[in-house]
Amino acid sequence: MSVIIIGSGGREHALGWKIRKDNDIELYYSPGNGGTSKNLTYRYDDEALISFAKEKKAFTIVGPEEPLAKGVVDKFKEHDLPIFGPTKDAAILEYSKVWAKEFMKSNFIDTAEFKIFSDPSDAKEYVKDKEEIVIKADGLAAGKGVFVCKSNREAIDAIDRIMIKREFGYAGDKIVVEELLKGKELSFIVISDGKKIMPLATSKDHKKAYDNDQGPNTGGMGAYSPAIINNEVYNKALSIMQKAIDGMRRINREFRGFLYGGMMIVDNKPYILEFNVRLGDPETQVILPRMESNLLEYIKYAYEGRLDELEPIKHSNNSAVCVILSSKGYPGSYEKGKVIHGLDKINNAIVFHAGTTRIGNDVITNGGRVLGVTALGKDLESARKIAYDAISMIDFDGMYYRRDIGKI
Ligand code: AMP
Ligand code: GLY
Repeated sequence: MSVIIIGSGGREHALGWKIRKDNDIELYYSPGNGGTSKNLTYRYDDEALISFAKEKKAFTIVGPEEPLAKGVVDKFKEHDLPIFGPTKDAAILEYSKVWAKEFMKSNFIDTAEFKIFSDPSDAKEYVKDKEEIVIKADGLAAGKGVFVCKSNREAIDAIDRIMIKREFGYAGDKIVVEELLKGKELSFIVISDGKKIMPLATSKDHKKAYDNDQGPNTGGMGAYSPAIINNEVYNKALSIMQKAIDGMRRINREFRGFLYGGMMIVDNKPYILEFNVRLGDPETQVILPRMESNLLEYIKYAYEGRLDELEPIKHSNNSAVCVILSSKGYPGSYEKGKVIHGLDKINNAIVFHAGTTRIGNDVITNGGRVLGVTALGKDLESARKIAYDAISMIDFDGMYYRRDIGKI
């Protein structure tokens, strides 16, 4: 059997690593990165990818949000090709934050109080007397379209960047202005066949660029699993995810795929900050190394609408920590093309590649988030130590990472 994974990040590398570990399959990446092999050069919307999938009778799994938002699943289905991920109609839960907030409201899913604006002057008038407020671009912005503002000036600046300077293009046609929630964050990911859900291990990512949660938001600078939460919170989180899946089915937007609830826990109650219609990155890089079940089996059963035939997904009792090594300057501008040294010295951690490519025998940097170094340990502290010891052996010009990943 052949499997194609669409995407090029650490999440996709981890997905392929896990699937290959448990199954005897032929694995291709489209387009993959410097850490993956059998990389196809086609873009996800390239007809050549369809032809390749037909020729190999491949099962395709979609990693990132963009192909889902552009309808790659619908397109494969038109060709009767098996593919796992939500259709474009269902992916709207991520690609429109405005739509998602309205969906949450009508399905009684707890979320921060909010207002929607399409006119920057109205938005500025509304935030005039507010000190703490969160401003979000409606559309996809690679995790960079959210501004957690601590003063009125920051809020005005965020509105200008999104709606006037249009840093995120038409993703900034509308904004969500919402209440700032204070609590602990949780990434809660489930796999669904459109009816039933099965939870993956809990995790938490570190979104801010610098230590002690300072600096701008990024796609994620590191993660750990499991997240530290009690049973009450866990059960509430699970029921929110079920409500979302049921709500989508009721409006004929059946959701088959991975659904990610980005939550804030306030007084033992989870609130949804965002839904993502895919696995998280870097969360996947800590969840999958702990997973004992065969993920591909769950993906196939979910694809076929038969998740109720399987046992719950099992994870080991140990902890995992993943530290992202990024290019200096990320999430702003950064240089590429730096040679990475020391990868051959790592033997007790797993290095997932993201923004890397190969030139001859060299692995060189090719993106903002370059590598994810994941370690497993009996507890968080020992996993942390193994991860950071491994990192001390890796080097490239401008390498930057947070020192406090997994510290709680
Ligand atoms: P999102 O992409 O909507 O999850 O937002 C990215 C990050 O911004 C979240 O992981 C939080 O750290 C922060 N954030 C988003 N919305 C809120 C909120 N209403 N209150 C506090 N922090 C938030
Ligand atoms: N780590 C956050 C995300 O995948 O959206």
